[in-house]
Amino acid sequence: MARINDNYQRLKAGYLFPEISRRVEEFSKNNPTAELIRLGIGDVTMPLVPAVVKAFHEGVEEMAGQETFHGYGPEQGYAWLAEIIAEKAYRPLGVDLTAAEIFISDGAKSDTANILDIFDNSNRVAICDPVYPVYNDTNIMVGRSNEINASGHCQGLIYLPCTRENNFTPAIPKEKVDLIYLCYPNNPTGTVAGRKELSAWVDYAVENRAIILFDAAYEAFITDPDIPHSIYEIEGAKRCAIEFRSFSKTAGFTGVRCGLTVVPEELLGMDANGNEVSLNRMWNRRQCTKFNGVSYPVQKAAAAVYSDEGWKQVMEVIFYYLGNAEIIRQGLAAAGITCFGGENSPYVWLLTPEGMKSWDFFDKLINECHVVGTPGSGFGPAGEGYFRLSAFGDREQIIEAVARIKEKWSRYQSIEKAGTTFSMD
Ligand code: MLT
Repeated sequence: MARINDNYQRLKAGYLFPEISRRVEEFSKNNPTAELIRLGIGDVTMPLVPAVVKAFHEGVEEMAGQETFHGYGPEQGYAWLAEIIAEKAYRPLGVDLTAAEIFISDGAKSDTANILDIFDNSNRVAICDPVYPVYNDTNIMVGRSNEINASGHCQGLIYLPCTRENNFTPAIPKEKVDLIYLCYPNNPTGTVAGRKELSAWVDYAVENRAIILFDAAYEAFITDPDIPHSIYEIEGAKRCAIEFRSFSKTAGFTGVRCGLTVVPEELLGMDANGNEVSLNRMWNRRQCTKFNGVSYPVQKAAAAVYSDEGWKQVMEVIFYYLGNAEIIRQGLAAAGITCFGGENSPYVWLLTPEGMKSWDFFDKLINECHVVGTPGSGFGPAGEGYFRLSAFGDREQIIEAVARIKEKWSRYQSIEKAGTTFSMD
């Protein structure tokens, strides 16, 4: 009988978001008339903007003509798209990239997972806690963790706690690590990293010859001019960082699929004999072997995001979501709930009231307010006692969700003050 990859048996039974969907389905089955508001998974709700739709249609039309049809495209993505990205997304930040350093893909999720292909299992890996579960789980899948300890951490990984006590800023590890995952604006906490914090990481990585895997999937939500959009805005980062970006949250491509990974030409790793090897060449080799590129119409649609019209339309949608985040933050704060993030980010991270456990708050929220969120503990042990609300919903629904939480919560607070038993009903 074929042997399985036993590492999969060390994973939690289900990936976080399908587990939430399972619970939501069960709730809906038992409560068919409940009007659920879903602020759990960070999935966009606004349609593609007109400039993108037009380009997408044109791409499909080209595929329908004998003369204009496209078969396999380059595995790295079309150079014209990479050039547009270099010009429009990076040059204004003072970052010069060549098209050969930009690899177009089907999204940041797959790339942050697949990047492990080009690194040896002996690397010491640091991840934040709480964290986007993909980084943790894919490291378990490749065998970097043999046991889950009592606190829920995988032995073999180095965890960097991010809590309100350290202002959600991971401390630079005391030990030497080789790979460091950073995600800013952060998923799940919605917090951001300034130039000073990122510079400290880049200095550490350069000094220790470590590689930073920088997930910038939410960079388009940054409105504060002092917050870097790219790790390459930091001096030295091209020598120590790979950056992942996504059109999912920037331009509503969660169902379309397109992202990109930047692997600078000067970025080097080391082979078993101590020789320096180009990571750009390795990633290129990996992509050419395992990936056949993103479809032509999708890349046409992605290019349209950077047209003047496209960018204006896309930013209107981003400001709509940021407006939602503001409504959530202000509404919850008015209900006495402590919130973080949500200012340069579509995620609001809140402290569960009365020290409730994250999944208990999930149950309470779904049962009593008919609002779905994401339990902080699903992102790691340090997320226990926190909860994430996504601002990607429809405005009316966000207002309604906040009103429901405020109403229930104020009632709960007055009951608590009166010293009666906990019940929001
Ligand atoms: C999230 O809710 O954390 C994201 O939607 C997950 C993802 O982008 O894969």
